[in-house]
Amino acid sequence: KYTPQQEKLFEINEQAMHLFKTILFSGEGVKAIEYLQTRNIAKSEIEYWDIGFASKNIKLYDKLIAKGYQQKELLAAELITIKDGKIYDYFFDRIVFPIKNEDGKVIGFSARTLQDITPKYVNSRETIVFKKSELAYNINNVLKIINMKKELIVLEGFMDVIALKRIGIDHAIALMGTSLSEFHLRLFKQLKVTLKLFLDGDDPGIQATIKIAKKLFQKNIKTLIVNNETKNDPDELIDQGKQELVKELIDKAIHPIKFVIEKLYEKVDPTNPDSLKAYLNETFSFMQMSKDLIVNETFLNELARRTEIDLEIIKKYYNEFTTSHH
Ligand code: UTP
Ligand code: MN
Ligand code: MN
Ligand code: MN
Ligand code: MN
Repeated sequence: KYTPQQEKLFEINEQAMHLFKTILFSGEGVKAIEYLQTRNIAKSEIEYWDIGFASKNIKLYDKLIAKGYQQKELLAAELITIKDGKIYDYFFDRIVFPIKNEDGKVIGFSARTLQDITPKYVNSRETIVFKKSELAYNINNVLKIINMKKELIVLEGFMDVIALKRIGIDHAIALMGTSLSEFHLRLFKQLKVTLKLFLDGDDPGIQATIKIAKKLFQKNIKTLIVNNETKNDPDELIDQGKQELVKELIDKAIHPIKFVIEKLYEKVDPTNPDSLKAYLNETFSFMQMSKDLIVNETFLNELARRTEIDLEIIKKYYNEFTTSHH
């Protein structure tokens, strides 16, 4: 399945992961451990997720060379950088989270600042095993249990995956951002379970939810949307002690069309016909992807109620819309 070059990078990354973890538990990692405590990440979770620390003072480069790896292999793994003839570790002074593929191979890392400097996370550069559009944090664990589950929860960040696991929800992956790639679509198609899309409740999260819901709907992937109206992300909610709310939000996930109808209406000026028309056009373009008569009938009713426009008029406008936009 993998080339010898790919296998080599997995091996180097695995070694790096163990070294980062050793550094975390050494004197060099005290600040990082303290930070993880502020995030409510326990020792057992550090072990489970193989979290580590890249220190300023301990050079990963030296450690890996001492283990017999060659400089060019470390460059291929993008664990080091050469600048003006000098060699630097790519990751330093950050908490390091290994990212694994569906087979549990370490393909790369994402590293978080302790001081909230920008960028918050530094991710591995692209290598022959690390493709930034092909990440699904926790997919290795999810694949082992997905047959016993009827759903897959899709989150934005791996901190959210870690937090959900803490409250007993283990069938979740993170996109590691807000974009959905062909890789994700292929993965979801194969899994044949209902997706529950649970992104951050901030504005970028909501915008991404609408965009991603459209893509999934278009591909006929059964999806429900977690209507997170809190402005927070799942990890923040769990930190606030709202784990029951998180579970309830997941249980009460709604149809993507209902989500779009609700969210887009928040920006409508109901006294302005142009605003109403723009709203209807947008929701129609979404509904039009569904050939399901009952689904569409249900949501046309919903739109009529919401806009207080007569149902017959809404239906007529929808028919006009679909004949001119196919
Ligand atoms: P978020 O900004 O929502 O991160 O980005 P988060 O998971 O809530 O992180 P904390 O709780 O502040 O520590 C979601 C995901 O987007 C990617 C990461 O994969 C993150 O998990 N991201 C975010 C980056 O790659 N780089 C960044 O600078 C920020
Ligand atoms: Mn190992
Ligand atoms: Mn976010
Ligand atoms: Mn977040
Ligand atoms: Mn967060």
